[in-house]
Amino acid sequence: MAARLLDGVEVADAVRRDMAPRVTRFAAQVGRPPGLGIVLVGQHPASELYVRSKLKSAGETGLRADLERLPETASLAELLALVERLNASDVHDGILVQSPLPASMPSDAERRVFDAVSPEKDVDGLHPVNVGKLVQHRADLVACTPSGVVELLRRSGVPIVGRHAVVIGRSDIVGKPMALLLLHEHATVTVCHSKTTDLARIAREGDILVTALGRPAFVTPAFVKPGATVIDVGTTHVTDRAVIEGLFPVGSKRFEAFLRRGSLVLGDVHPAVAEVASALSPVPGGVGPLTIAMLLRNTVVAAERRRGLLP
Ligand code: GUN
Repeated sequence: MAARLLDGVEVADAVRRDMAPRVTRFAAQVGRPPGLGIVLVGQHPASELYVRSKLKSAGETGLRADLERLPETASLAELLALVERLNASDVHDGILVQSPLPASMPSDAERRVFDAVSPEKDVDGLHPVNVGKLVQHRADLVACTPSGVVELLRRSGVPIVGRHAVVIGRSDIVGKPMALLLLHEHATVTVCHSKTTDLARIAREGDILVTALGRPAFVTPAFVKPGATVIDVGTTHVTDRAVIEGLFPVGSKRFEAFLRRGSLVLGDVHPAVAEVASALSPVPGGVGPLTIAMLLRNTVVAAERRRGLLP
């Protein structure tokens, strides 16, 4: 039996619709819309796409969103100065510095930049103050992708309380906050990673399986408990025709899309998992749209909090 597909586009639309009255109220009371500053250093192709989607979606939701660009050659000091300017800006309630930073930056640049964003404007939820609050279950700015996963599960009617959730991946952006959020939703949580022994056996214990590995089609049916809910957070741009041919029959929609574009974005989950899982969040169309919706929600929350409109 084919799994029910969890529709991230529809759930993201619902999240944005729920926010509309808050945006209108904020604009009426403050005299301007909630504002987001997005910083993009260089021209990383995937980041260009993500940033364009974020700007478009913010505009459609009634938010002000400004793109602040720096060239690939910008120094860390210039980037930190830009973050300081946005920290001091009255019209920007949220700041997001798009990752990854250029490889020419120092290895600790990302951490230093995320640390420099004012915690009140940290709509990425990655500042240590907000991560600490998340641990204690009192954060209102939480990393967007994992909070989008919880929103998708909740609004799709997938029960979480008391279920065994297995998270594959332990990054600061997805895996760790994901595990904490599922714990706060009263799941029993296991975190696996690249060094986990017998990963498939442990993954197969999950009633809910969240994969954030970045290894296309790595999670085969052997990793999935029959009837589980599977959330695919991986996104890898694949240009190798042999990989695509091995996964999608010649003539299928995905294969034809690959021929047209010369690349395909693949998740961590193998297509055959749809025959084992009861519900599946696909790539594309699953978590991606929710990441953006949660960014906009975080911006509204940050704006309301700064203006004393939240309890
Ligand atoms: N690049 C890919 N995902 C993210 C994210 O969640 N936040 C930021 N800042 N950059 C990203």
